Amino acid sequence: MSTLANDGRNRQLFMTRFPQGEAGPGDFEVREAPMPEPKDGEVLVEAHYLSVDAALRLIMRDSKDFLFRVQPGDLVRGGVAGKIVESRNPNFKPGDFVTGGLGVQNYAVSDGTGLSKVDTSIAPLPQWLGGMGVSGLTAYFAVTEECKPGPGHTMVVNGAAGAVGSIAGQIGRILGAKVIGITGSDEKGKWLTEELGFDVAINYKKGDLYEQLVKAAPDRINSIFDNVGGDILNESLRWIALRGVVLLCGSTSQYTQEKMEGPSNYIWLGTMRARMQGFVVYDYADKFAAAQAQLAQWVKEGKLVMRENVVDGDVGDFPDVFQRLYHGENRGKMVIRLQAASA
Ligand SMILES: NC(=O)c1ccc[n+]([C@@H]2O[C@H](COP(=O)([O-])OP(=O)(O)OC[C@H]3O[C@@H](n4cnc5c(N)ncnc54)[C@H](OP(=O)(O)O)[C@@H]3O)[C@@H](O)[C@H]2O)c1
Repeated sequence: MSTLANDGRNRQLFMTRFPQGEAGPGDFEVREAPMPEPKDGEVLVEAHYLSVDAALRLIMRDSKDFLFRVQPGDLVRGGVAGKIVESRNPNFKPGDFVTGGLGVQNYAVSDGTGLSKVDTSIAPLPQWLGGMGVSGLTAYFAVTEECKPGPGHTMVVNGAAGAVGSIAGQIGRILGAKVIGITGSDEKGKWLTEELGFDVAINYKKGDLYEQLVKAAPDRINSIFDNVGGDILNESLRWIALRGVVLLCGSTSQYTQEKMEGPSNYIWLGTMRARMQGFVVYDYADKFAAAQAQLAQWVKEGKLVMRENVVDGDVGDFPDVFQRLYHGENRGKMVIRLQAASA
C-alpha cells in the first residue's frame, strides 16, 4: 500500500520551446499528471528535493551533439532525492531514501535503474545531490585523478562558490595545494577564504583578472579547475605553469550562448607544454562508493564543508530557481525543497 506524504498530485515540468539566452519561466509549463502506478519490478518515488544544475541549460538546445537532451515537449531532466512510497521491487522497500535522475516532478515510477539508496545517517538527504552526490564526486575525481595537487602546487578554481567548485577547492587544500578561488562577489569570496579555507579569493567582476592572478600566484598556476569557461578561463590560461593542467569540468558561461566560443589564449598551452583535459564524472562510477566514504570522512574530521543552497518551492518554481544560478545567487549546491513532501 502506498503512503503518500503530500496531496497526492503529481506536477511535472515540461520544456515548451528552446530558450534564447538564459532559460526563463516562459520556456516551461507545469502539467498535472495522474499518480503513476508501479508495476511488478518497479517502485514509486516521492521527490523531496530537486537538484538544480547549470549543466541542464547545455542540453536544452536544438542540437544532436549531446547524449542527453531536453527538447520542446520533454519532461525536464533533473536529479531528485526522495523516498520510496511503494515498492514492487525486492531491492527497495517503502521508506528507503534514494537519489536518481527522475526528472522535475513530484512522483516518478522507476524500475530501479540508476536509482541509488542513500544513508541519511551519514549525510542529510539534500547533501546526496550535492557534496555527497554528483557535484562532490565530480570535484573529487577531477582533482585527485587529473589536477593532482600537492604541496608546492597552485590550483585556481573558477565558479569557486558553486556546487562543484566549493568542494574542488577544499580538496585541493586538503591535499596541500595553494588554492585560489574565482567567484562573482566579495561576499562569496569572503565565504571561500573565511569558512572554506581557500588561500585567496578573486572577484572576477572587479579589476583586471590577469593582474590579480599574477599577484596571487607569483609562481604561476599548476592547475586550472574550469567550471565556467569564457573570459575567465581565457585570462587564466596566460598564467599557466610549465606542464600545467587545465581541467575542463564545465563551461557555464557558454551554455547560454547560441554560438559557444573557445579561448584564444590556448597558445600558452604550447609554450608551457600544458594540457587541457576533458572530464566526465560517470567514467568513475565504479569508484563512487569509496569516494563518498572519503568525502564523508573529511566532513567528519572537520576538513570539508558541504553546503546546500536550499530554496523552498514546488515544481513550478524550478525555472526561476534555475535562472538564479545564472545570476550567481547560489552558494554551494542549489536545490529545491518541495513544499508538500515529508522530509
Ligand atoms: N564534467 C562533469 O562530469 C560535470 C559534472 C557536474 C557538473 N559539471 C559542470 O560543472 C560546472 C559547475 O556546476 P555546478 O553545478 O557546480 O554549478 P554552480 O557553480 O553551482 O552554479 C553556477 C555558478 O556559475 C557562476 N556563473 C553563472 N553564470 C556565469 C557566467 N556567465 N560567467 C561566470 N560564472 C558564471 C555563478 O557564480 P559566480 O558568482 O561565481 O559568477 C553561479 O553561482 C557546470 O559547468 C557543470 O556543467 C561537470
